[in-house]
Amino acid sequence: MCGIVGYIGKSEKKEILLDGLQELEYRGYDSAGIAIIENKQLKNFKAVGKLQNLREKTKDYTSQGFGVAIGHTRWATHGKPTELNAHPHMGAYSFVVHNGIIENYQELKEELQAEGIEFLSQTDTETIVHLFEKNYNINNNSWKSFQQTIERLEGAYATLLITEAQADTIFFAKNGSPMLIGFDGEDIYFASSDTPIIGRAKEVYYLEDGEFGYVKDGEVKLFDANGIKTFTKQPLPTDKALAQKDGYRFFMEKEIYEQTQVMNDTMMGRVLDDRIYFEELDEKLFENIDSIKICACGTSYHSALAGSYLLERMAKIPCQVEIASEFRYKEPLLNDKTLFITISQSGETADTLEALKMAKRAGLKSLSICNVDNSSIVRESDSAILTRAGIEKGVASTKAFATQTMVLWMLTLYVAQAKKTITQDTLNRELEAMRHTPKALLVDDKLHSKLTRLSKRYLHGHGFFFIGRDLFFPLALEGALKLKEISYLHAEGYPAGEMKHGPIALADAELFTVALMPKTIHYDKIKSNVEELCARDATVLAISPDYFELSDDFIQTKYDTHPMLEFFEMMVITQLLALEISIRLGNDVDMPKNLAKSVTVE
Ligand code: M6R
Repeated sequence: MCGIVGYIGKSEKKEILLDGLQELEYRGYDSAGIAIIENKQLKNFKAVGKLQNLREKTKDYTSQGFGVAIGHTRWATHGKPTELNAHPHMGAYSFVVHNGIIENYQELKEELQAEGIEFLSQTDTETIVHLFEKNYNINNNSWKSFQQTIERLEGAYATLLITEAQADTIFFAKNGSPMLIGFDGEDIYFASSDTPIIGRAKEVYYLEDGEFGYVKDGEVKLFDANGIKTFTKQPLPTDKALAQKDGYRFFMEKEIYEQTQVMNDTMMGRVLDDRIYFEELDEKLFENIDSIKICACGTSYHSALAGSYLLERMAKIPCQVEIASEFRYKEPLLNDKTLFITISQSGETADTLEALKMAKRAGLKSLSICNVDNSSIVRESDSAILTRAGIEKGVASTKAFATQTMVLWMLTLYVAQAKKTITQDTLNRELEAMRHTPKALLVDDKLHSKLTRLSKRYLHGHGFFFIGRDLFFPLALEGALKLKEISYLHAEGYPAGEMKHGPIALADAELFTVALMPKTIHYDKIKSNVEELCARDATVLAISPDYFELSDDFIQTKYDTHPMLEFFEMMVITQLLALEISIRLGNDVDMPKNLAKSVTVE
């Protein structure tokens, strides 16, 4: 995820920016850059890869005296991680950094290009600086030009702009991506989270969506759609480690809460009013393709399974899913009419990478769904769709799973619209449901407290079964994996209808069953399966929009009109349940024993 740092004042600016960006390293990035205006002189440095490369490039530069400065670490979304695509982006006399995605950048870019403006990068961000300069060239007023620029932007942004046209000012705007302003006397800082300014600023103001303004002469002028605003600063936290976790106890907890936000990033520019669009996909990708095979490991395998239900149901394309480590050695029969999809958070999982290489050797077209641009799997694939989950630190994957599943849902609709296997009405309903997903992922405080309380009842026993049917079977597998990874309790995911073919023999009061009972898919069928378990005295925690009186514990969900909204809402519940059980057991949630975040060995 990208990071922003800004500073206006008299201190040495290069070090403030580089140190600040260093504090944001944990979010992941693939290039970095800084721009400084001092004595009306603009200086700009960029480097691909680690910050050390940028430090090296700037080692002979120091900044003295009053000036304005902006810096950025970039996690590639539009365009490859190159120096040209790295921020700050440059116009003729201004620089901009930006987090988020400008949804209408293509339209803005075409408009600017038609007027003869040349673009150097493939990014959406560059439109901001050109738009600003175009306005300034007309009205000769920086503040007015900045306002006119912001008015044209659609999508999510946190942005800082500096310009030689008004060299003593930083312009800022925030909508949908985080940004804060730090204060220490006349020194004023900007950052995309607390950590870069802890130890420098004493007070902070967290900008709200829709706010924008400028800093000049040690003063912040803040505006929103209603005009100028007053604001209240608050003391800045002093603990950096805590700040990285944004106040959450564990990265996994933070990542569960972040899902609602990152899902917007995943959808941005892809979920349009009446269709799905993937800028990164060649329209010919599905030409001559009559089936799909997906290979992945662990959590990514579970999202693949969920995707296969969607692809077959809506896009009417046969879809087979395989565990990558099994696929590698089974001497699979492959044909070049199969599209080979790999799914991976890290993009470095050895088994998945090898499976991909095998498929390529057999002449298959390949597509990867991945969270890390430029990773081995992305580089090896013919095409890639980035999940845009941002860096995931918890070993137990949460937001990566959510965003992979979302990409597969979008891909399903993309294929379905191309093959015309669904009507426009159905497509519109799916798009509408998709837009609701961030809401379904919101963690409700009451729900979280309920799960904290419930967790104390589930710390023993002789095992857990997570059961579900259809799409909710992969979710049951994922729920069980989350629990076992971080609690070290035995848990299995099972198709609910299969319990009576063996596992029900285990049923007794010490067998804990987490039953996923969505209203929109086979509710009566799963209800019968759960009743069979209740009749054998299993302890049941039911999750459903409909009250289920036989259960020992019950969590009522809100969504009951679309399977995917039910899916994402229940997913959050299973993640929080695992988290709370693990915390009660005193385990290291983020670094469970015996596990690594990225499995680069066979
Ligand atoms: O990086 P990948 O998605 O390829 O990783 C695959 C698995 O190793 C990973 O999902 C693992 O199962 C996680 N620990 C799950 O929480």
